[in-house]
Amino acid sequence: MPLVTTKEMFKAAYEGGYAIGAFNVNNMEIIQGIVQAAEKLQAPLILQVSAGARKYANHTYLTKLVEAAVIETGLPIALHLDHGPDFETCKSCIDGGFTSVMIDGSHHSYEDNVALTKKVVEYAHAKGVTVEGELGQLAGIEDDVNVSAEDASYTNPEQVYDFVTRTGVDSLAIAIGTSHGAYKFKPGQNPELRFDILEEIEAKLPGFPIVLHGASSVVPEFVKQINEFGGDLPDAIGIPEEMLRKAAGMAVCKINIDSDLRLAMTAAIRKHMAENPSDFDPRQYLAPARTAIENMVAHKIETVLGCAGKA
Ligand code: G3H
Ligand code: 13P
Ligand code: ZN
Repeated sequence: MPLVTTKEMFKAAYEGGYAIGAFNVNNMEIIQGIVQAAEKLQAPLILQVSAGARKYANHTYLTKLVEAAVIETGLPIALHLDHGPDFETCKSCIDGGFTSVMIDGSHHSYEDNVALTKKVVEYAHAKGVTVEGELGQLAGIEDDVNVSAEDASYTNPEQVYDFVTRTGVDSLAIAIGTSHGAYKFKPGQNPELRFDILEEIEAKLPGFPIVLHGASSVVPEFVKQINEFGGDLPDAIGIPEEMLRKAAGMAVCKINIDSDLRLAMTAAIRKHMAENPSDFDPRQYLAPARTAIENMVAHKIETVLGCAGKA
């Protein structure tokens, strides 16, 4: 099976009350860890590449590694651009073999977001590529954009129907209290998601796939592990997994996870190097890092996403 778009995946996920995991990829070990978990559990996958990942690892290297995953497993895998910052980046990914792109116009005015998203949709749809748009602003850091908690804003349900119909997007990322990075809530703050907003959006757009960014959960566990082996990170708070499971049973069809992967990988490498201080063969510490990613993704598929056996 070649790379797929998100269209069929989302339709089945919406109807089946589960979500597809969208995991950020930056190198071979990350891709292999994610794909090994999905293969064992026969789960559909979205592998997503940010502009920063493209800059770090190179478009062709990442595309070919993802194509290798398809050849090796036969799983339905979509290759997606995460947080496309402009039309040119989206065009370059569409022309370069991606099957799905996100255009993130959430930092622009509403009308500019509509115009930019519509332009990307017209180009993408002509080439059979699906498009994710975003309304509302998550807090946290992604690439060079750093949104403070004060500047973050929930998605306005009154805007979603107009945005989706005018742009023609295939899915919509919304802001209901998740945020990017490991530090999602202040110490002592109770994690809370605005399910009332999600319900309102679902009522305005019945059957339409919704996306949750900033959905890492197990950051505290890995921060602890990193610090146990010489790290120096402040305590972190993630999104409780039961909240994500609830969202996956509603209109949320795509759940984005990156920070949990980064921390799991770093924790495994720190542990390995602390226990084997004279190792200098990268395979010795990257193999446990890859296994840590596999275990984490398997856990997400089973407890958060509910997409095991849906490939
Ligand atoms: O939301 C952003 C993702 O975690 C990707 O992060 O831009 O540092 O690759 P990045
Ligand atoms: P986390 O930082 O919570 O993993 O979110 C990742 C994300 O939304 C990628 O687009
Ligand atoms: Zn994101």
